[in-house]
Amino acid sequence: MQAFDALIVDCHASTLATGHGWGLIADAAIGWRNGLLVFVGPREQLPTDAVATSTRVHHANGALVTPALIDCHTHLVFAGERIAEFEQRLEGASYAQIAQAGGGINATVRATRAANEDELLAQSLPRARALLADGVATLEIKSGYGLNLESELRMLRVARRIADTLGISVRTTFLGAHALPPEYHGRADAYIDMLCAEMLPAVAASGLADAVDAFCEGIGFSPAQTRRVFARARTLGLPIKLHADQLSDLGGAALVAAFDGLSADHIEYSNADGVQALARADSVAVLLPGAFHCLGETQKPPIAALREHAVAMAVATDCNPGTSPMLSLRLAMTMACTLFGLTPLEAVIGATANAAKALGLADRGRLVPGLRADLALWDIAHPAALSYWLGGAGALQVFSAGEPLFCNSAGE
Ligand code: NIG
Ligand code: FE
Repeated sequence: MQAFDALIVDCHASTLATGHGWGLIADAAIGWRNGLLVFVGPREQLPTDAVATSTRVHHANGALVTPALIDCHTHLVFAGERIAEFEQRLEGASYAQIAQAGGGINATVRATRAANEDELLAQSLPRARALLADGVATLEIKSGYGLNLESELRMLRVARRIADTLGISVRTTFLGAHALPPEYHGRADAYIDMLCAEMLPAVAASGLADAVDAFCEGIGFSPAQTRRVFARARTLGLPIKLHADQLSDLGGAALVAAFDGLSADHIEYSNADGVQALARADSVAVLLPGAFHCLGETQKPPIAALREHAVAMAVATDCNPGTSPMLSLRLAMTMACTLFGLTPLEAVIGATANAAKALGLADRGRLVPGLRADLALWDIAHPAALSYWLGGAGALQVFSAGEPLFCNSAGE
């Protein structure tokens, strides 16, 4: 009888199994059936006929295998770029000043509204490909550069087409409350009225969004407006996430917890009560060092308090044209260590198991029998190297549910 659909031998593994740290297995074997892991352990423990009876046997030449990486916060579907703003910021303008002058998110809204679906896909696909080559097999993509129903749905459709085109898993998040579109200038409450009455129900009915997000900030939406969006999302059965306390403390972390949200993201300014609320709600703290770095921020997320209260920490790229034009999740992991003080192990768990949790996905993020065979193979001796290099070679190979998604020339 056939043991496995596929078997990887001649590899080392980092299982990240709960409570086992790196969970290192030297001379490992990994086998799966129907896209799910059925064996992860020392090769010597394989059934004797495993190699002979498996449909495919892959000799990994000593590669290290980890769970495929999961980028749980991106805005990678957009048109254009904002290099002029980058230069303005280098000359001293702040992100908030640029936004108040009509640039920032609304600059990308103008470009994204003007792009048709195929153009948007063509511009966004290379970014998804770059993340895939970096070991990412699951990707969250937010809308939020359309800010009207038609353009928001177009962004979400493009996100789904990225999944279809690359075979990567994409989780979509509706971020209609990202910024106030120009046609609602001075009428933020009216925009939120429309978003709750028209956009959210239509987006929910379309089935194109897996979650709802908002930007709760002085240059975004108030806590009261955010609460209305979340209340409506809840009635529609959509889980919530939040751009919380990025530039100031508006109690965003506690707001996420009050709605049993999946995650509070950024959280540089979150206070102690907010951290405790996240712990009670079992919401994930998503750390985004790319935006922190690009905006020249100095206020760091409350890492010690998050550890003290055992809040799960995830790490993501926040890939977007304004605050984080970042196309490597490994770079975000490195920066989470150097800028925020995460350990390399926390960074790797943050880009695998805890990132899965931030997306509400219980079926991936560790190399454990029963979970998806989402794997990344690396030419490194220890998984801490993933949080060590700034750039350099990405993954040798990436598998999603046991299917090869990516293979670089060195991995052939
Ligand atoms: O995660 N803070 C709000 N949203 C994005 C930035 C979007 C943009 O500037 O285009 C963020 O940093
Ligand atoms: Fe973001």
